[in-house]
Amino acid sequence: MKKVVKIIIAIVLFIFIAIQFYQPALNIDKGQVYTTDFTQVYKMPVEVKAMFQTSCYDCHSNNTNYIWYDYVQPARTLVENHIKSAKEDLNFNEWGTYSNRKQERLLNSIKEQIETKQMPVPSYTLMHKNAKLNNENIKTLTNWLEQQE
Ligand code: HEC
Repeated sequence: MKKVVKIIIAIVLFIFIAIQFYQPALNIDKGQVYTTDFTQVYKMPVEVKAMFQTSCYDCHSNNTNYIWYDYVQPARTLVENHIKSAKEDLNFNEWGTYSNRKQERLLNSIKEQIETKQMPVPSYTLMHKNAKLNNENIKTLTNWLEQQE
């Protein structure tokens, strides 16, 4: 191997190891129960509840089920930024604290995001197969959402 290639590999390795030391705070709430949670505010069939929790809560709640590679930089920072901006828009744990207007707007937005398959984020369902919603799931969720409006 050429010396220059070795040097480049060493530099890349060094950077990779160095960035591992930056670990932003984890989005974990240690099993806290929220009376303001989306699934507490509305009555919903168990399968609807399960779909929201499995497909949305990793980003839109205070508790993420991490996979090992979520801990490895640079994924660690990307994942945490995703969760932060997702929660700013919509935190299912805090649903009950939102104004009626905000809840109405979000119900519409949730329906639209699911119908157009923008949520759950496609790059996320690639790695989280169980979070993927098939057409039947989408129908069940959008039907339920329509009844809440
Ligand atoms: C991998 C993370 C991730 C998952 C999983 C995820 N979202 Fe999101 N979601 C985001 C991010 C990031 C944003 C905000 C940035 C954007 O606009 O794309 C967002 C935005 C939204 C918005 C827009 C809120 C608004 O202000 O109108 C809605 C609604 C939404 N998500 C619903 C859902 C639903 C419903 C699910 C589950 C079926 C889901 N999301 C799953 C990351 C996620």
